[in-house]
Amino acid sequence: MYDENERIVGSARLIEDDENEKSIRPRWLKDYIGQESVKEKLDIFIKASLKREEALDHVLLQGPPGLGKTTLSNIIATELGVNLRVTSGPAIERPSDLASILTNLKKGDVLFIDEIHRINRSVEEILYPAMEDYCLDIIVGKGPNAQSIRIDLEKFTLVAATTRSGMLSAPLRDRFGVLLSLNLYEVKDLTKIVKRSASILDIDISEKGALEIAKRSRGTPRIANRLLKRVRDYATVKKDGQIDYQTAKEGLKLLEIDECGLDNMDEKIIRTMYENFNGGPVGIDTIAASTGIENVTIEDVYEPYLLQIGFISRTPRGRKLTKKAYEHFDLEYKEK
Ligand code: ADE
Repeated sequence: MYDENERIVGSARLIEDDENEKSIRPRWLKDYIGQESVKEKLDIFIKASLKREEALDHVLLQGPPGLGKTTLSNIIATELGVNLRVTSGPAIERPSDLASILTNLKKGDVLFIDEIHRINRSVEEILYPAMEDYCLDIIVGKGPNAQSIRIDLEKFTLVAATTRSGMLSAPLRDRFGVLLSLNLYEVKDLTKIVKRSASILDIDISEKGALEIAKRSRGTPRIANRLLKRVRDYATVKKDGQIDYQTAKEGLKLLEIDECGLDNMDEKIIRTMYENFNGGPVGIDTIAASTGIENVTIEDVYEPYLLQIGFISRTPRGRKLTKKAYEHFDLEYKEK
């Protein structure tokens, strides 16, 4: 079975990325590259809350994996000068798990819940009064003697992240005062990110070398930083350690990533759409069944980038290959 975690251009977080990202992760908004409109809004809301000495309103960050949602939550806490508590939807199994996290928060603290769309229904329900009225309603006892007691919480800020905002229930979504969408990064911003990370990690890289890595990173900083490290390995063993255009190109070739950042899984999706469905339109579930890749993974991981570079388009009847995809993979256009 295909494993997204083994894919060099996969956007899933790996332990190795976390270790490396700790040092290269920007800590302040001014060091965060790209996502200009998100930064501008956050800057204002953070400054306003500091000025009024109130907790920042709850923030929902949505967008494909690897774009820096966790990084932003760290930045928010740093800029506010408060503690950050990190957890995730699937990690909070019971309402009592969340209750214990919430009751331990100090005034103004930030609670980051990653993958909020995977939160349990029963947990979600205790989140509502916590977000809205900063309190917990706990049922004590059973049957006719059951009593509801109310526990007041400190005013905190929930920063939640999701790759699938469509999966959030309306009552949950409505409780966020700030909704921010992250988009895939432009190549010029990714180039800056690669150069910034290289400088922190003491990697010698030329402008063109950085650009080449950026171009093949699927609009995703996490992938850009990973490719940078692998290309550095190539440069260390095969060259003098420096990454110029030629070295970057050779290193990326070894990693089997093409000029557009596509790997053999993307190619498999495109070729399946071409060979089995005459280029579409074809439904996502059908593509999933034919490729053996889960439909959620296709939607979260592959499709955003294939849409961004204009290789597939979405129609009411499903996904379709575009002329650009035909040209890139040298496919023959068949009349329908
Ligand atoms: N590293 C990962 N994402 C980044 C970003 N947006 N800006 C700077 N460095 C980063």
